[in-house]
Amino acid sequence: MNAPVGIFDSGLGGLSVVDAIHRLLPEESLLYVADSGHCPYGDKPVEYLQERARVIAEFLLRQGCKALVVACNTATAATVSMLRERHSIPILGLEPAVKPAAAATRSGIIGILATAGTLRSQRYALLLERYAPSLTVLSEACPGWVEAVESLQLEGPETEALVESHVRPLLEGGVDTLVLGCTHYPFLRGPIERIAGPAVAVIDTGEPVARQLKRRLLELGLLTQSSVPPPALSFFTSGDPNRVASFVRRVSPELKHIDRFPA
Ligand code: DGL
Repeated sequence: MNAPVGIFDSGLGGLSVVDAIHRLLPEESLLYVADSGHCPYGDKPVEYLQERARVIAEFLLRQGCKALVVACNTATAATVSMLRERHSIPILGLEPAVKPAAAATRSGIIGILATAGTLRSQRYALLLERYAPSLTVLSEACPGWVEAVESLQLEGPETEALVESHVRPLLEGGVDTLVLGCTHYPFLRGPIERIAGPAVAVIDTGEPVARQLKRRLLELGLLTQSSVPPPALSFFTSGDPNRVASFVRRVSPELKHIDRFPA
């Protein structure tokens, strides 16, 4: 079925998921909403996030999307159940990769980097209970990281210091595995890996979600059968399209259309 897959995030972070989806499902067209005008989501009340998710999902459905990916851990925790009650198309969410981290760790100590909203959610508590009951889990909210990515400050001394201030305490706590539990954080992978060093595994959720999307589309007979017209990314933002256009094009060369999100 040659309809697009709809994706949204509080901003640019979900492009780390777009990248994984494009690599695994190169025939699929994607329609992306970056809610940068309302970013960050990490410190917003659940009701606020549910209203944003409702407006964005309705927009994506009106554009004919056949499936939705909530490419944001914070929005998944706050809104995915509500979205699944309202809409019958497949809706995938993202959660911190606690299960893969539990499988990877040798020290039994894992670090989860995520937003305050994700860390205080019921879904996160259940995730730890289910997959990490016997591990030591050091959870770290990372204020300022999402803003650094949104302002395209991905490198440099200030970003390095900001990243170090949240990674260092986890290293001192003995973690050998770090989970990037926010889709913005893969864009800070350079400084994170430099500070953590080669002995620490750094895990994100882009690829597993792309695999899950492929499975769901296949099961439901929704995979795109041909790539005529060629697959593309349409990008809408509630922030300023001109400010981010060259970054979006660099991360997703499939970008065909960039526009302002109307709500
Ligand atoms: N990309 C969102 C996530 O995965 C960032 C949340 C925010 O805007 O604070 O959690």
